[in-house]
Amino acid sequence: MKIQDYLRRQGERIQSELERLVPPESAEPVTIHKAMRYSLFAGGKRIRPVLALAAAEAISAPPAGMEAAACSLELVHTYSLIHDDLPALDNDDLRRGRPTCHKVFGEAMAILAGDALLTLAFQVLAELPVDASRRIEMTAELARAAGTVGGMIAGQVHDLEGEGLPPEVSLLERIHRAKTGALLRASVRIGAICAGASRQQLDDLSRYGEHIGLAFQIVDDLLDIEQSSEQLGKTAGKDAAQHKITFPAVYGAAESHRMAEMELTKALASLDSFGPQAGSLREIAELIVRRNA
Ligand code: IPE
Ligand code: IPE
Ligand code: MG
Ligand code: MG
Ligand code: MG
Repeated sequence: MKIQDYLRRQGERIQSELERLVPPESAEPVTIHKAMRYSLFAGGKRIRPVLALAAAEAISAPPAGMEAAACSLELVHTYSLIHDDLPALDNDDLRRGRPTCHKVFGEAMAILAGDALLTLAFQVLAELPVDASRRIEMTAELARAAGTVGGMIAGQVHDLEGEGLPPEVSLLERIHRAKTGALLRASVRIGAICAGASRQQLDDLSRYGEHIGLAFQIVDDLLDIEQSSEQLGKTAGKDAAQHKITFPAVYGAAESHRMAEMELTKALASLDSFGPQAGSLREIAELIVRRNA
């Protein structure tokens, strides 16, 4: 199957599970459910939940509750985007091809919509129809990846505090591994844990996750300077305007492209012990590095 077909099929599985998990717009209080759904169903790439499904596939037949577990990643990711766009953070007007959540619903409701998606993610994991020890492991995994010690919030703090500082190599890696890499690594690990991976399999998949996680943000930084806002569905050229510490700012565009390719090579090497059942993970890694949005 071609990777585009695979992504479409898995994207549809995620879409219908999210539909089931998130309260309808008619549920009281309607404003918050409208705001949550507005950002969630705006057409993101769904790369994190799809990675979770692909990682599970590399281990075993799809376990019960796998779609819901994968959706927890998209819920946390969408919350992080809503908050990332707030005036107090990156102050962005455009996201997933639409006006940002706070532009439509106001800042207070956007903050609450982010909070609500984050909270729902943990409810979904707590209620998974899987063995309790795996459920606990997945819950802790997501909490750590979204958290303040090497997790997404840590990365966002370094990113904000780094604005205007001299672009410096060690800070750059610290920002990128945490703000984006941690959740991508957790996506792979949550899929693998749900499917009952062995310690060795989990270690190999974690390394894969770290390499694609770093590659993902290198490419995000490159797209910010190389693509248009129309193509990206979010405002291009923001990083330089806000004096962010990015890969192109530190290494230049050509070297950043080379580094993303190097991360891809390492990600693929991490999968050496897996057979054809890791084929989707291999193709997703290539897509992450060669994407244009
Ligand atoms: C954008 O993530 C934010 C980063 C962590 C770089 P994506 O590029 O996955 O955004 P969507 O989900 O497709 O909108
Ligand atoms: C986003 O980094 C990281 C998050 C945790 C949301 P960016 O600020 O570079 O993401 P975009 O470019 O706005 O999507
Ligand atoms: Mg940001
Ligand atoms: Mg941003
Ligand atoms: Mg960016």
